[in-house]
This record gives sequence, C-alpha cells and structure tokens, in this order.
Amino acid sequence: TKKPKTIWQCTACGATTRGWFGQCPSCHEWNTIEEQVERPAAGERVVLATPGASSEGAVVPVTAAQEQLADAQRLSTGIAELDRVLGGGLVPGSLVLLGGAPGIGKSTLILQACAGLVGVNDDHAHERPVLYASGEESIAQVAGRAKRLRGGSFTAADERLLLLAETRIEAILDAATARKPKALVVDSIQTVYSDAQDGLPGNIGQIRSVTGHLLSWAKSRAIPVIIVGHVTKDGQLAGPRLLEHMVDTVLAFEGDEERATRMLRASKNRFGSTAELGVFEMTSQGLREIPNPSEVFLADHPEEAIGSAVTASLEGSRPLLLEIQALLGPSPGGSPRRTCVGADPSRLAMLLAVLDRHAGLFVVDQDVFVNVAGGLRLSEPAADLAALLAVASSHLRKPIPRGTIAIGEVGLTGELRRVPRMEERLAEARRLGFRRAIVPSKSVPAGSPQEGLAIVGVDSVAQAVERAF
Ligand code: TYD
Ligand code: MG
Repeated sequence: TKKPKTIWQCTACGATTRGWFGQCPSCHEWNTIEEQVERPAAGERVVLATPGASSEGAVVPVTAAQEQLADAQRLSTGIAELDRVLGGGLVPGSLVLLGGAPGIGKSTLILQACAGLVGVNDDHAHERPVLYASGEESIAQVAGRAKRLRGGSFTAADERLLLLAETRIEAILDAATARKPKALVVDSIQTVYSDAQDGLPGNIGQIRSVTGHLLSWAKSRAIPVIIVGHVTKDGQLAGPRLLEHMVDTVLAFEGDEERATRMLRASKNRFGSTAELGVFEMTSQGLREIPNPSEVFLADHPEEAIGSAVTASLEGSRPLLLEIQALLGPSPGGSPRRTCVGADPSRLAMLLAVLDRHAGLFVVDQDVFVNVAGGLRLSEPAADLAALLAVASSHLRKPIPRGTIAIGEVGLTGELRRVPRMEERLAEARRLGFRRAIVPSKSVPAGSPQEGLAIVGVDSVAQAVERAF
C-alpha cells in the first residue's frame, strides 16, 4: 500500500497550503493551518447518476446514451425559475448546494421546491415523499411555514412532506434510506455533524465528513440531495470552499434587505449553464416567481433623467433590460474617485478614457459614481455603450430622450463592436415600449424590422454621443 500523503490545510476555510503558516494566506485567520492525511475528494470525480449503477463512491463509466438519459430523468421542482437555473430540473443523484445570507429566504425556497417535487400542485397523491431534515428549526416551525406558503401549500397531514428535526447525519441518512424519498434536503450544513468525526458542527472536518456522507448516499441511490449553507457577509460560504468542490451544483441566493427582489444564480453547475438568472419576490406567502424581470428592474426607472441609460443584457437564455446610472462631480482632491455598484471599476476607467480621447468629453478629472439599478451586475461588454452614455449624460447635464435603449461593446479606438443575439435584445426592448435603439452599425439586424422600434446604427462613440442626445 502507498504511504498516505499529508497536506496542510486551513481548518477555517479549507484552503490548502504548501506548508505550515501562522496565518492562512487565503482567509487570513491565525493558527488555523493543520497537517492532515490527504483523502481523495470523491466529489472531484464526475459520477453521472445512473440508478443502481454505482456502489458507494465508485467511479462508473457511462456511455453518451446514458448521459442523455440523465437529462430525461431530471425532476421538476415546480418552480420554473429554479428549474432553469439548475439546467432543467434536479438531476437524480446530484448534490446541490444552496448558499445565501441568513434570512434571505433559502429555507422558504427549498420548502416551496419540496411542494413542487411531490407534485402538490398537480395532486399526484401517489408521488414518493420528499424528506426535509432541519437542524435549524423545529418541526412545528417548518410545518407552520409550509402551510402559509402560496400555491401548493402543504397541509399538516400531508404525507408527502416528511420532516425531521435532526442534526446527526447518520440518523438523517438512516431515515432517508428507510423512506426512499424523491429528494433529500439538509438545512443547514452548518448545523449537522457526524459521529465519525471530531469537532463541533460547522467546522471544516465536520462539513467535509457530512458532505462526504451525503455525496455517496446521493450517488449510490440516484436521489438528489439539496444542502442549504449560510454564507458570511462578504459572500463566502461560511467555512468551506471545500464544500463547493464536492458538490455538483452551487446555487447562490442573493438580495438585499431594502428590496423584496431575490436573485438566484448558479456559480458552478456540472449539469447546466452558469449564466442563468432566476428572479423572485419575497411576499407574505413565500417567494413569487418573476417571469418578466425587466419590468421589475425598470419599474423605478425615471424617464428623461440626467445620468440614466437603459441597456439589454443577456442573462443566460434571456435578455434583461436594466438601468445604469452615473453621477459626475468635480473631484476635490488630486485623485478622482471611481465608485461602482454592479459595474467593474477597470471597465469604467476604460470607458472614461475612451470618452475623453474619442468623444472629446473631458471626464477623467471628475469623481464618477456608477450604479446598476435594482442590485444587478453588468455581466457583459454589451452594456458598455449604455454605461458610457450615462456618464456622458451626467457630464453634459442632458437626459437621454425617453424610450431610448443603447446596446454595444466599446473598443479602445472608440469603435463600437458587434454584440451577440441582438435581435432577442431588441425584441425585449420593443416589448417594454422602447422606441429607439442605438446599436453598432454592424449589429443592425438585416431582415425583419422591429415594428415601432427605430434602430440607429452608429460606428463610433463620438457618433453615439451625437445621436443619443
Ligand atoms: P428563510 O427562508 O427562513 O431564510 P433563510 O433560510 O435563508 O435563513 O426566510 C427568512 C425571511 O423571509 C424571514 O425573516 C421572513 C421572510 N419571509 C417572508 O417574508 N414571507 C414568507 O412567506 C416566509 C416563509 C418568510
Ligand atoms: Mg433557513
């Protein structure tokens, strides 16, 4: 037998290091680096879910035909936004981590997904149950909440939602094995522990051990497992980066306290794209899906405001209209400030330099604030033109006329570059009542004119600024 390899690892964040350090180079905690015997991380192997095919942790080669089968076996959660972000539903045997700040609505989302999984809405009385193990709340609390949720509300007597208030993973898995549920939920990973492991629930060893148990249970039975995990304020999953490596899919649930809007993204997905965005609203009866998010994000959009521009961004399979706001002011000190919310500061610096050089707007000595309304992030260069026009609008103190949208990537020579899937973006703009679109000449769609939407093709930022106002 081979001599076991030892590794140095941070007990707080799971980062591995080359040797002992007093302070973890990754999370900056002190005295957390420890020597450990390396175990193969089972989760690093892609094990496709084929019912009955694998024993605990074994690697099972699959044929391409079997992989297609996996798609057909996906389970719908009954929540279209969640299904889309998952890549088309839950894959049997997959391990899904749902992360988010405490109080954001993770338990609510998962409870609603449980209702969808057992088909409460369709009255499928014959469906297999779903097992929801909570280490955070009592059965009465979970059951009480389940009853309040919109649509498909469970009744207390519903036999298809099995609740378990338990924190010992061995007990949870025994119960799950006995009932053979359609899916297993563990809420949250930070509260669950294993007998086989020293330490308190939530420490790195426990999280590794519990996730390992869940992983082999899910894979060997082809039953999906959803793990809920709290993230810290700075957006890190509390404790375990390691956990993200072990699971198939990592979902991030985000939003802020002032707004009821909640956004769901996949930051990792072995079974789908990571570009999809799911949008929800938290109501008194749980989460409501927002199938047309552009309407929500533009709801507060002031018409004809100085420093405001609208663009159409692609979020996975959907175009989404969003508003970019900019405010410029004289910089009191020598070095002007750049403050971005939802935008990339280095991209902004590039746009300011281009405006200065190629559109003759002297903005580089100004303090610049850029904000993407609604708590969204600019995720692609197609938003460049709108960001640039928002800055130009604030600088010129002139609003962009009503009903105008701007889409295009800006290059360093001041040229406007083609963006993908322009027609879908324009169709969304037209649907929401926009009447004029400023786009790169090269991206003007050839055929089918967009009824009611005038397309203004421009080649350079100078031309765009001239035509926009
Ligand atoms: P919860 O799902 O418990 O959050 P998490 O599991 O991420 O910690 O939901 C937290 C908040 O959501 C709670 O403070 C109250 C609110 N809420 C509603 O507004 N409506 C509802 O129907 C429910 C169930 C919760
Ligand atoms: Mg919770």
